Amino acid sequence: MGSLRQKQHRDLALLIEMIHVASLIHDDVVDGSDMRRGGATLHAQFGVKLAVLAGDFLLARASVVLGGLHDTRVVQLVSTALDSLVTGELMQISSREGSAENCNHMLSQYLRKTYMKTASLISSATKSTALLSDRAASDSVVDSCERFGYHLGMAFQVVDDILDFVGQSDSLGKPVQADMKLGIATAPVLFASKEIPILCALIDRGFEEPGDLAQATSLVTESHGVEQSYRLAHFHAHLASIALLELPPSVYRDALMELLRMTVCRDS
Ligand code: FPP
Ligand code: MG
Repeated sequence: MGSLRQKQHRDLALLIEMIHVASLIHDDVVDGSDMRRGGATLHAQFGVKLAVLAGDFLLARASVVLGGLHDTRVVQLVSTALDSLVTGELMQISSREGSAENCNHMLSQYLRKTYMKTASLISSATKSTALLSDRAASDSVVDSCERFGYHLGMAFQVVDDILDFVGQSDSLGKPVQADMKLGIATAPVLFASKEIPILCALIDRGFEEPGDLAQATSLVTESHGVEQSYRLAHFHAHLASIALLELPPSVYRDALMELLRMTVCRDS
């Protein structure tokens, strides 16, 4: 029984990683990005057709592994997360059109999109882990695991967006300021726009006019946008640590706490 559970947990980790990699391969195509983890992206090396099919292949294989878990609750959770991933990416693309009338609305849309494209997969994984350990859906351990994944995912993506703005391409292993170049407004610029309303006009037109990128960068740098984004990331990390501490002490819990710390302190 113990080894069956171990295999299920391993298969869950495997299929979540496969979905994650598939989503990044497709994301690099959508974003037209040619560098990931310090190397050329798949589509830059082998072309868009092969990259799209490689992502599809990983997704197909992940579905086979998911079915093999024989747990309908986990199948439902992970397939809903897949739906959210695609919806989040679509929300991001439509946010480039810049139709938001006010910055508050944009910030709440950003948080929703962040849940969809990142936190949904992580929380479905952590919740599934508890369900595969024979926990009932109503068990508080399931709830703690889900909240841990949710807040870890939110913190991770907010830091990712901060690093896209302030980070160095060499250490990140991917292009920087990619979001603004794609017309996407993330936490640093959205917070800054509350302090410096002129940024709303630049966000609205997707930083498309000549000089927009340079002007937006210097306005965000002058503002508290990055600081407030870090505050948001730390807020989620704090809630993640509370959820984690509801679980019994173990070396695994310690490792997850360290992972959480690294998520907010990383510079790459
Ligand atoms: C990275 O965002 C992208 C994601 C977290 C999700 C991408 C989802 C899809 C492309 C939908 C298709 C899904 C599947 C399963 C094939 P980012 O561009 O902000 O991060 P980056 O800077 O690392 O590229
Ligand atoms: Mg991308």
